Amino acid sequence: MRTYLVTGGAGFIGSNYIHYMFKKYNNEIRIINVDALTYAGNLENLKEVENKENYTFVKADICDKEAIEKIFAENEIDRVVHFAAESHVDRSIKNPEVFVQTNVLGTLVMLNAAKNAWMLEDGSFKEDKKFLHVSTDEVYGSLEEDDTFFYETTPIDPHSPYSASKASSDMLVKSYIDTYKFPANITNCSNNYGPYQFPEKLIPLIINNALQGKKLPVYGTGTNVRDWLYVDDHAKAIDMVQENGRLGERYNIGGHNEKQNIEIIHIILDTLQEMLPEGDERKKLVSKDLITYVEDRKGHDKRYAIAPDKIKEEIGWYPETMFKDGIKLTIKWYFENEDWLKNVTSGDYQKYYQDMYQ
Ligand code: NAD
Ligand code: TYD
Repeated sequence: MRTYLVTGGAGFIGSNYIHYMFKKYNNEIRIINVDALTYAGNLENLKEVENKENYTFVKADICDKEAIEKIFAENEIDRVVHFAAESHVDRSIKNPEVFVQTNVLGTLVMLNAAKNAWMLEDGSFKEDKKFLHVSTDEVYGSLEEDDTFFYETTPIDPHSPYSASKASSDMLVKSYIDTYKFPANITNCSNNYGPYQFPEKLIPLIINNALQGKKLPVYGTGTNVRDWLYVDDHAKAIDMVQENGRLGERYNIGGHNEKQNIEIIHIILDTLQEMLPEGDERKKLVSKDLITYVEDRKGHDKRYAIAPDKIKEEIGWYPETMFKDGIKLTIKWYFENEDWLKNVTSGDYQKYYQDMYQ
């Protein structure tokens, strides 16, 4: 049975990935989820799997070398899927240190622990061991309206402390591939949306605020463009790259779905109106009058857009979920998981670990 070490599995994409993997492989794989449970880590995301025999949660910081080495010493790890990171650009502008700590130094700890566990005496690696580093398209910088797309060959040109820290971690992974022939891949993905996303990011923040009749903050002119990808499609891509990609390669993962922020907000408001049942009090609260233009983000990247050509040609992956369907699935999930949203916004979700594990 193949054993996965997933870092950051209690976060948004990590928890969706764990659900995806158990749906796909069920009891054929074992997953060890290592997460420090920062403000972004929420074990409620994994309630459905927490009692599975082939799932283990370990509360540890990826910067804690001893804790990470212990996991490798006690388990024969076959796959590492490395999600753990500080992930919010606005937070990185206010407090960059923790981004360097976790995203750069934490990645180095993960690389070293895997290298030491997997390397044989002659410098080659044990058979069928693979490390996948989950990164972002933000490492490529920003495009203008009339530019083309980000390709794997686009020069790295990060602007925010977040993207600079992710670019640094990508470079460390690349250095391990180049120096030791370390068996790894890097994936650079566009903006994800879907269930379990912390409501500090655009889409869940707009859904949550609109349902409560709170202002919808639009940075700058609202014309910045992001390329939105449904999180389940991302989970599938990660698995396909790890199993079928060429080792040592970087793959871009994108949604073929570029939209201005203001367009996204209008779609969410229209979809909420469409989906809320007649007579629901919230119908009166959801309104375009809530849209509020606020001061722009410092150094706000204009446009991100990925051409996922390489992953399609080499591996056969493409984004399957159309935005009009993905946004409905997402809103439906938030409707059905009001308690999750309440717990997250009140901070109560942080008690879950205490109650569940101690
Ligand atoms: P998230 O913020 O929702 O989750 C991050 C998880 O990592 C949390 O569970 C948190 O507790 C954990 N974590 C943070 N610091 C840790 C540490 N020091 N040790 C152990 N665990 C720690 O992030 P996400 O949106 O799920 O993103 C996951 C990965 O995907 C990140 O590497 C991010 O850079 C990348 N990514 C995200 C997006 C996106 O749209 N969200 C797009 C492209 C790439
Ligand atoms: P975000 O979800 O933070 O992702 P990222 O910055 O990594 O792309 O933001 C997506 C876009 O939405 C980005 O252009 C900033 C903008 N934005 C707002 O206009 N208002 C908000 O309240 C937030 C959180 C983001």
